[in-house]
Amino acid sequence: MRILLIGNGGREHAIARSLYNGSPSDILYAIPGNPGISQYCECIKINPLDFKALCNFVSMNKVGLVIIGPEVPICNGLTDYLLELGVKVFAPREKASLLESSKKFTKEIALENNIPTAAAKSFNVYAESIEYLKKMQPPYVIKADGLAAGKGVFICDSFLEAQTAVHDIFDGRFGLNQSVLIEEFLDGEEISYFAISDGENILPLMGAQDHKRLLDGDKGPNTGGMGAYCPPPILTKKLENKIINLILEPTLSGLKKRDISYTGVLFAGLMIRDGEPSLIEYNIRFGDPETQALLMLLKSNFTELVLDTVNVNLKNHKIQWHDKKSLTIVLANKGYPLEYNIDSSITGIEDAEANKNIKVFHAGTSIVNGELIATGGRVLNVTSTANTIQEARDQAYEAVDKITYKDKFYRKDIAWRGIQSE
Ligand code: AMP
Ligand code: GLY
Repeated sequence: MRILLIGNGGREHAIARSLYNGSPSDILYAIPGNPGISQYCECIKINPLDFKALCNFVSMNKVGLVIIGPEVPICNGLTDYLLELGVKVFAPREKASLLESSKKFTKEIALENNIPTAAAKSFNVYAESIEYLKKMQPPYVIKADGLAAGKGVFICDSFLEAQTAVHDIFDGRFGLNQSVLIEEFLDGEEISYFAISDGENILPLMGAQDHKRLLDGDKGPNTGGMGAYCPPPILTKKLENKIINLILEPTLSGLKKRDISYTGVLFAGLMIRDGEPSLIEYNIRFGDPETQALLMLLKSNFTELVLDTVNVNLKNHKIQWHDKKSLTIVLANKGYPLEYNIDSSITGIEDAEANKNIKVFHAGTSIVNGELIATGGRVLNVTSTANTIQEARDQAYEAVDKITYKDKFYRKDIAWRGIQSE
């Protein structure tokens, strides 16, 4: 079979590696891919948002299965376009992707189905939202309703800060016509939980803990994620069952009531307090960088998992995991998530991978004049597998030291919570 992977990040590099290991006889393409992904897939220079060119490629090359990594093409309806061609797609349709592209929609689903989540109110008018804010206590949680690449959420300690955030959202900082959500602040420990649905059945995967803030000690601005590890010790079997029964299953049946079926990865961002989960948000795809750690623990065949999803056969799927811990450290470019240089050359990846428990995934790299260059905000993901989180972390930081480029920047405390409770 010919399989096409859409995306160019560390998440897609990890998916490409799992696909390659799971289906050695298949032909793998990536659009647009990156230098790491090109070890496994033929990379094609097409813009993933140019649906016409993409569908043309799929038809011309007799692609049978498409896996979409990032949220933007999914939320813009790429799945629907591809399904029209008669191709199997591992990603939800546009209607189902509202779970990520509209926080208001997700709140409605949560309320209609008694899913535990923070109370929230949505506003379309500046003055009304400020009146409401005046009645709230800090910390204030202010969110732009639509997609904002993880940057549309503000946790504000002062009224003035909250007012500025509301002003910025209505002013179009995250696009025009954004409404504002003002939410109750949830205290606790945050985890990411991943499951897959084939439209009929749900298959729980695993949880992970991301590090969204830029700096050590969970300080500084929010980023796409600076490191992750799995499974987190806080995720007991009992908690996992609560997540499935109280959050994921009611979400899928709530969608069904609206005549929406869900195929693909369902990623719940959750706050855990006193053993009870609350839904913060949904993403309709694998997490980045969580997936880099998670897929290193998958023992069974990834391609078969994807095929059982698109063929509505998850009920019979037996998933198996390695009984190990995995951890990934994001190497970023100094200045990320704002401005950064895109001209430093990278060395040392082979040296880092000399340890067979280390895999380095490419996130923001390019080949320029035959040299590997750091061209993205998040550049590489150094991923390590071991028997304990501590061991995985020690190994990962040793590997990080072997990689050099001019503006290398990374957090030094990935998995601090996991190590405390291991
Ligand atoms: P989101 O994009 O909705 O995941 O929000 C980004 C981050 O903001 C989350 O990962 C949380 O760390 C934080 N956050 C969002 N909503 C809340 C909330 N209601 N209470 C506390 N923290 C929140
Ligand atoms: N790491 C969080 C995300 O992928 O949205």
